[in-house]
Amino acid sequence: MGKLRKKFGNVAAILGAQWGDEGKGKLIDIFAGEYDVVVRGTGGANAGHTIYPEKGKKVVFHLVPSGIFHPKNVAVLGNGMVIHFPTLFEEMEVLKKFHVKTKGRILISGNAHIVFEYHKKIDQILEEMKGGAKVGTTGRGIGPAYTDKIMRIGIRVSELENFKKFEEHFLTNLKLFQKMYGFHYDPSHELAWFKRHHNEIGEMLCDTNMFLGEVLEKKKSILLEGANGTHLDIDHGTYPYVTSSNATIGGLVTGTGIAPKHFKSIIGIVKAYVTRVGNGPFLTELTDSLGDQIREQGSEYGSTTGRPRRCGWFDAVIIRQSIRLNGLTSINLTKLDVLTNIPKLKICVSYKKKNTHAFYMPPTLDGYTPEYIEMPGWVEDISKARKFSDLPKNCQKYVQKIAELIKVPIHFIGVGQTRQEMIISG
Ligand code: IMP
Repeated sequence: MGKLRKKFGNVAAILGAQWGDEGKGKLIDIFAGEYDVVVRGTGGANAGHTIYPEKGKKVVFHLVPSGIFHPKNVAVLGNGMVIHFPTLFEEMEVLKKFHVKTKGRILISGNAHIVFEYHKKIDQILEEMKGGAKVGTTGRGIGPAYTDKIMRIGIRVSELENFKKFEEHFLTNLKLFQKMYGFHYDPSHELAWFKRHHNEIGEMLCDTNMFLGEVLEKKKSILLEGANGTHLDIDHGTYPYVTSSNATIGGLVTGTGIAPKHFKSIIGIVKAYVTRVGNGPFLTELTDSLGDQIREQGSEYGSTTGRPRRCGWFDAVIIRQSIRLNGLTSINLTKLDVLTNIPKLKICVSYKKKNTHAFYMPPTLDGYTPEYIEMPGWVEDISKARKFSDLPKNCQKYVQKIAELIKVPIHFIGVGQTRQEMIISG
């Protein structure tokens, strides 16, 4: 048994603790080498993880769990997901180019819902309608697909087993949405696509709940891959500027059917600063040239939409909240190297409103301002550091201060882009 599996147990979850894009892909990739199955439970092609399967080769996946590059790994798309199949097929084409076998290695829950092109149209219509109050969605049809699910009219993957019925359901829904939203759409191309591919999809269809249950019975290991980020959670995030699923640990429970008692570790991915794409409150945002510097140093452009990410100072309040919501047992601090060459760094320790101080996220952030401490920066290249003591003293102090504020052990520190550029403690 590998070192990580020994330390983090047979069932470990890795999820983002901020507003997404924390850099989950790298740790998931490292863990996946020791785990038998990697499963996603929520979201759809709004998520994006970047993996570097070979030196200098970058791939961005939106649907396939990151573990697929490890030959023994089985990737599961869980029941809580909403799946846009043409995107999945494009990703499978990329995998082919890297000679990665997918047959029997990608299993899809029949209970997951399908995202269609009309969902994207509705996403766009709703955003336009909201004007200045728009969420800034990824435009991938996520909200409308989850809306159908909750309205109990959604189309699940298992419906493809009877193509005729599937087609009827599709056309009924489309008619309803065209009435509701008044858009024109000729579905013949999309239906033809599903007609061509439904047998291939059928080969990946699986009772994933049964499969995962048997994996657990055999004492094999499962890695759960979170999507989006804690504060984009539909219940606990900065509503309405959130996604339409539960990006916190609860979503991984319901979205996979793995009972909470099995979870041995819940690892939070925390960027050494904060980013956010789309609209919504972000108290430590830097709207000046320093924000631009961090964006450039960190290549902070959306992996799904290419939009520039909003950047800001590390915020201990949102991390404390994430720890509370998810029961995080361990932290991976990512992209610490991006903060090199910034003379003074700020860390938000609490929020203030009149005479009150908030250490956890208040229900609304209106009227709150961040309270900072200042830390000296460093100029040394930290990408070669493999032990904590290799880091420059000021950098060590920055990490120690964060650890002190959030009170959960930081077991991993990312110091560069590649898999190797990681300090792993203990
Ligand atoms: P949706 O999930 O496309 O509906 O977008 C809702 C909000 O969540 C928008 O602000 C998106 O930018 C944001 N969002 C959704 N998924 C991700 C993600 O994986 N990373 C970062 N932001 C995301």
